[in-house]
Amino acid sequence: MFGKLFGKKKEPEAKPVTEATPDDWNRADKPAPAAEGDCSISFENHGVTHPVKPGTSILDAALDAGVDLNNYCGGMCSCGSCRIIFVSGNVSEMDDMEEATLSVVEETDDDRLGCQTKILGHVVVTVPPQDF
Ligand code: FES
Repeated sequence: MFGKLFGKKKEPEAKPVTEATPDDWNRADKPAPAAEGDCSISFENHGVTHPVKPGTSILDAALDAGVDLNNYCGGMCSCGSCRIIFVSGNVSEMDDMEEATLSVVEETDDDRLGCQTKILGHVVVTVPPQDF
């Protein structure tokens, strides 16, 4: 019955087949990810160093470590309240969305958004004064 109403089911088009896997695409031009236990973050103006899993956001690490870091939009990259000052270490690159939000609240050339910046090694940051 439905075949008459909607016509015959269309066969999916053949897709090109490659031998590459998603792991191959992720490896291109990227450093090997840090192993578990090789990542930590130091909040230098709080005297706190906290171990994290690779890929943890600075915001999540701050909250887990008990460091106050504003996050008015809940990490949705729309408020800029999670701004931190990057000091050193291996972190994810800034994408267009972070750059756009950060441009509104940026105060130094080393600013990043804690909710968007992923920890990929031993990282040191400064947390600006928080306005609660
Ligand atoms: S928490 Fe709002 S931009 Fe990061």
